[in-house]
Amino acid sequence: MKATITVLAGDGIGPEVTHAAVSLMEVIGARSGHQFKFQEALFGGCAIDAEGDPFPPATLKQCESSDAVLLGAVGGPKWSDPSARVRPEQGLLKLRKHFELFANLRPVKAYPALAQFAPLRADLLEGVDILFVRELTGGIYFGARQEQGESGTAWDTLEYSVGEVERVAHVAFRAAQRRSHRVTSVDKANILATSRLWQRTVTRMAADYPDVKLDHMLVDAFAMQMLRTPNRYDVVVTENMFGDILTDESAVLAGSLGMLPSASLGKGTFGVYEPIHGSAPDIAGQGIANPVGTILSAAMLLRYSLNLEEEAQKLEHAVEGAIRDGARTKDVAGQGEKALSTTEFAEAVKARL
Ligand code: NAD
Ligand code: IPM
Ligand code: MN
Repeated sequence: MKATITVLAGDGIGPEVTHAAVSLMEVIGARSGHQFKFQEALFGGCAIDAEGDPFPPATLKQCESSDAVLLGAVGGPKWSDPSARVRPEQGLLKLRKHFELFANLRPVKAYPALAQFAPLRADLLEGVDILFVRELTGGIYFGARQEQGESGTAWDTLEYSVGEVERVAHVAFRAAQRRSHRVTSVDKANILATSRLWQRTVTRMAADYPDVKLDHMLVDAFAMQMLRTPNRYDVVVTENMFGDILTDESAVLAGSLGMLPSASLGKGTFGVYEPIHGSAPDIAGQGIANPVGTILSAAMLLRYSLNLEEEAQKLEHAVEGAIRDGARTKDVAGQGEKALSTTEFAEAVKARL
C-alpha cells in the first residue's frame, strides 16, 4: 500500500521523538513492502517564529492531503508569556477541531520490567491495562472565553451537547466490546450540569450495549482510586479536561509520561497520532527523551489509519521486547541502570523488528 504521513515535529523534544518513530516506520515499510511517504511541516512554536501562526495554511493543506499525521509536541517557555497573543497550543486545538477528531484514545499499560522502579508498589501494577477515551473537541477547551480585562475578571465556558457525548461514548462502548466489556464513565455530576447531561446520555446509551457493564464515578474519587486499585479499570470515558488531567496522572502507572501514546480519531480513518506528553523543555536538545509514547503512537497510526494491524503489533511487540531485555531511557531507568539515548533506544527496537 501507499500512504502519505505528515510529520509535525513541533518544539522541544518533539523532533527527537518523532525522528525515532519515523525511522522505525521506515523499517516497517521496507520490510512489508509498503510505501510510506513522510512530509514534514511547520507546527507550533517554530511555526509562530517562522510565520507568526502556529498552524499555517500550508501545514493545514499538507495535513488535508495525507492519510494521517504524526505529531511530536508543541510549546515551551519561549511562547508561554500569559499576555502572548498567539500560542503554540492554539495550533493543536485548531488541528483537532478542523478534522473533528472527537475521540482521543490513550491506552495505559504497566510494564512488568519497569515496575521495580515505578513510584507505585509493583503488586498494585499487576495487569494494569486501561484505555482512556477522552472527548477531544468539546468542553471547556472550546467554549467561549474572556481574557482578564479592566474589570479584573476572566472566564471560560464549559458546554456539551447530547450528540457530542453520544459519539464519543459509542467509541468507548465499542472498544469495551473488544476488551473486557466494562466501561467507567467519569464526571462531576454532583456539581456540573454538563456532567449530568453526560451521565444521563451515557446511561441511556448503555441499553444498546447489554453486554457491557457501565459504572459512573466522580472525577475526584476516580483520581484517587486509579492509583489505589488501577487494575480494576478497563475502558474509561470522560470529558476533555478531566481526560487531559487523568491521563497525565496515569503515566505514574506506566512508569513515565514518556511512555504513553495517543490516537485522535473522527468519523473516517484520518487521525492525528501523538504522545500524551509535551515538549519537555527541561530535557530538550539532550537526546535523552523517551520515544516510546511516540513509537506506540506510530503503531496506532498503522492500526487505525492504515489498517495495518499486523505491522502495528510487530512494532508494539518490538518495543515490549526491547524494554523486557533492559532497554530504557533515563526517565525509566533505575539507579545504577544503564540509560540509553533516544536514538539508541530506537536502535534497540529496530534490532527486534
Ligand atoms: P511536559 O509533558 O512537556 O513535561 C512534564 C515532565 O515530564 C518534564 O519533567 C519532562 O521532562 C517529562 N517528560 C515529558 N515527556 C518526556 C519524555 N518523552 N521522556 C522523558 N521525560 C519526559 O509538560 P510541561 O513541562 O508542563 O509542558 C511543556 C510544554 O509542552 C508546555 O508549553 C505545554 O503546553 C506543552 N504541551 C504540549 C503537548 C502537546 O503538544 N500535545 C502536551 C502537553 C504539554
Ligand atoms: C495534551 C496537551 C494538550 C491538551 C495541550 C497542549 C493543548 O496537554 O495533548 O494532553 O491539553 O489537550
Ligand atoms: Mn495533556
